[in-house]
Amino acid sequence: MLKYFLILGLLLSIVACNTSMSSKEKQEYLKKGKQITQATFKELSGNLMQQMKLGGPPQAVPFCNLQALPITNQISKKFNVTIKRTSDKLRNSKNSPTKREIAIIKQYQKLFEEDKELLPIVEIDSYNKKHYYAPIKLNAKCLACHGELRKQLSTKTDSLIKSLYPEDIAINYKNGDFRGIWSIEFKN
Ligand code: HEC
Repeated sequence: MLKYFLILGLLLSIVACNTSMSSKEKQEYLKKGKQITQATFKELSGNLMQQMKLGGPPQAVPFCNLQALPITNQISKKFNVTIKRTSDKLRNSKNSPTKREIAIIKQYQKLFEEDKELLPIVEIDSYNKKHYYAPIKLNAKCLACHGELRKQLSTKTDSLIKSLYPEDIAINYKNGDFRGIWSIEFKN
C-alpha cells in the first residue's frame, strides 16, 4: 500500500513540475510578453496611422488586410514566438481563438464589465509550452474601422471592410472597450 502511495506521489510531483512555473519564471515571461506585445503594437499601429494619414480608411483598410498578418509573423520570428491577436468578435477568421483563448477572453470580458483591472496572464500548458495573454482595448483612433456604424465608422468604410471580410462583426465598439487579446506562445 505504502509503495502505491509513494509511486502516486512521485507521479503527481512530475505532473505538477511540468505544469507549473516558479514565480521568478512567471515574472520573466510577463516581462518578455510585455516587450513583444509592445513592439508588435508599435509596428502595427505606426504603419496603420501612416496609411490613415496618407489616404484615410480607403488606404489603411487594404493595408491591414495585406500587412497585419505578415508584420505579426515577422515579429514572431524575430522573438522566436507565435504572436496572435484574437477576439470574440472577429474581423478576420484567420485570427480565430482556440478553446483556451475563448476562456481567457470570457474571463477578461467579465472583469471589464465589473470595472476591474485587466492584468496579463502567464501560464504553461500540458505540452510544457509557455503562454502570455494580455487584453487589447480600443482607443479613439481605432474607431474609424471598429466604431459605431454611421458614427465614427462610415457606411463607405464598412462596405469596404465587408468586401474584404464578409463575416466581419468587429464593429460597434466604443472608445475604451475591451476588443480582444494578445496571445503569445513561446517556443522554448
Ligand atoms: C484602417 C482600419 C483599421 C483601424 C484604424 C484599426 N483596425 Fe483593427 N483591424 C482592421 C482590419 C482590416 C483587421 C483584419 C486584419 C487581418 O487581416 O488580420 C483588423 C483586425 C484587428 C484585430 C484582430 C482580431 C480580428 O478581429 O481579426 C484586432 C485585435 C484589432 N483589429 C484591434 C484594433 C485596435 C486596438 C485598433 C486601434 C489601435 C485598430 N484595430 C484599428 C482594421 C482597422
